[in-house]
Amino acid sequence: MILKNELLFYNPSKFREIKRYYDIFDKEILTITEYIINEGLVNDQFGVDIVIDISSLYNLSSSQFQAERIINLFDNTFTFIADIKYKKEFTEDFRFCFDEFIDFDEFISKDEDSKKVLIKKEHKKIIDLDVKELNLFFEKFNNSLYGHNKFKDDFKEAVDSFRVFNKLGEHKILSLFLMGDSGVGKTEVARAIHKSLGGENKLAKVNFGNYSSDNSLNSLIGSPRGYIGSEDGEIFIRVDGSDTGVILIDEFEKSNSTLFNYFLDVLENGKMVSSLSHEIDLNGFIIIFTSNISKEGFKEVISPELRSRLDYKGYFSILKATDKLRYVEFRINSIVNKFNKFYPDALDDDFKFDVLIEIDVNKYKNMRDLNKRIKQVFVEKLMYKMY
Ligand SMILES: Nc1ncnc2c1ncn2[C@@H]1O[C@H](COP(=O)(O)OP(=O)(O)OP(=O)(O)O)[C@@H](O)[C@H]1O
Ligand SMILES: [Mg+2]
Repeated sequence: MILKNELLFYNPSKFREIKRYYDIFDKEILTITEYIINEGLVNDQFGVDIVIDISSLYNLSSSQFQAERIINLFDNTFTFIADIKYKKEFTEDFRFCFDEFIDFDEFISKDEDSKKVLIKKEHKKIIDLDVKELNLFFEKFNNSLYGHNKFKDDFKEAVDSFRVFNKLGEHKILSLFLMGDSGVGKTEVARAIHKSLGGENKLAKVNFGNYSSDNSLNSLIGSPRGYIGSEDGEIFIRVDGSDTGVILIDEFEKSNSTLFNYFLDVLENGKMVSSLSHEIDLNGFIIIFTSNISKEGFKEVISPELRSRLDYKGYFSILKATDKLRYVEFRINSIVNKFNKFYPDALDDDFKFDVLIEIDVNKYKNMRDLNKRIKQVFVEKLMYKMY
């Protein structure tokens, strides 16, 4: 029997970090279940490329002989990891299979370079800002969202309370549920929070419009252990790829009760658990749910349990004319500035004014339509100026 190098115990809440760590070495993490189903797989693989999570052997513990036999199928080029939950049992049961049992944290603390890679990936969160940074955050946020003044006040209040009670350990996730007309800035709220927190990567966004089928939970949080291609689902990939503690769930009402219940759990426990039992700690995160349902529809579609766990429920109405005008000015300015970068000083303030007066903001409820109108007038005036 060949003695293996070591068995590394990981904390499931840090699974993403561990995955990133092995990504650096181009190693893929697979579960031992796949080999239990198909033992021949061992011969097709290069051990140096593979990390095997043996946690699920715990379920075989009635047959220790069987578990040992499976581990001995592998040579010592493979790397082995297991959930720290089973440390006691595995250290005992597999004392003849591995020559060392260590915690992943301890293992990695010896490796300075990879530590840097892991630390860099922290999410920027609203709870981590100091007072000065928080003021800057609100200034930026309020400037990028036009109108909705009541919401801005409420949001500030909610954030202030969140920061206090989060510290006291009583409030893990700040949840906002935004309803209302199309194109008035609901999704923009999430984008603006992300940007104002200094987000440079893509915002973690999941559209529940794509999650209305029965199989939706699998796509969202991954398929159960042992399924072919079982992977963490979309939401884990999105959160992992983002650099801020903000999650946007668009078109929330389009999904089904399974997903509602999942989020009930997320809000309650402050963490997301994938079907592979990998966890992402969401302490300090802001989750924004958006929806086009009406005030009445809200009570019909969203269960009382979920409703009561949402920190803020707000209805976004159509923007006031003055806010729309400010938006138009902002858009014209930004288009003209971009244009002038290509053709220095081609367009002046008179041109901006000519565009502005052609746009009747009262005709538009949806800012997307307003935006189209701005572009249309811009091109018209540009053509007129050139010919
Ligand atoms: N209040 C606002 N302030 C700044 N920009 C806005 C505002 N409302 C809309 N916009 C702009 O208009 C576009 C549409 O807004 P957004 O995506 O937020 O709409 P929405 O309310 O989420 O609509 P839907 O329900 O159709 O998803 C975006 O490009 C956004 O930048
Ligand atoms: Mg939207």
